[in-house]
Amino acid sequence: MSTLDDMIALARAAQARAYAPYSKFRVGACVRTESGELYAGCNVENAAYPQGQCAEASAIGAMVHGGETSIVEVVVIGDGDGLCTPCGGCRQRLNEFATGDTPVHVCGPEGLRKTIPLGELIPYAFGPKNLDTP
Ligand code: THU
Repeated sequence: MSTLDDMIALARAAQARAYAPYSKFRVGACVRTESGELYAGCNVENAAYPQGQCAEASAIGAMVHGGETSIVEVVVIGDGDGLCTPCGGCRQRLNEFATGDTPVHVCGPEGLRKTIPLGELIPYAFGPKNLDTP
């Protein structure tokens, strides 16, 4: 089993635990940090729809709770025929802790569908460095 296989397995297990009674669209995510640790999360919807949380946000929350802030690889898994790429907000959330080169592996039920560098998903991103003013 490769690290990517481990990440996909964790993301798939997280997806199975998604709370998505409104959209019925279950998503799982897994981030790997600099230390090699893996953190997973699922989407958590809410009756007040805008309060729902994406799987990536949940995985990032677990990572920060684990004391880490540096993402080196990302897996997102969703159902359907399309590519379950991170939403705009989650591209920004990932950008906070990753670089433009960080691979985002977009997966479906059968496994890996496409790997996209974060910088292609969010070009010209505004990030922590923008706040470094003299
Ligand atoms: N969703 C995620 O969790 N991650 C994504 O990358 C795309 C969308 C969730 C949000 C909502 O709970 C459901 O998928 C349908 O949009």
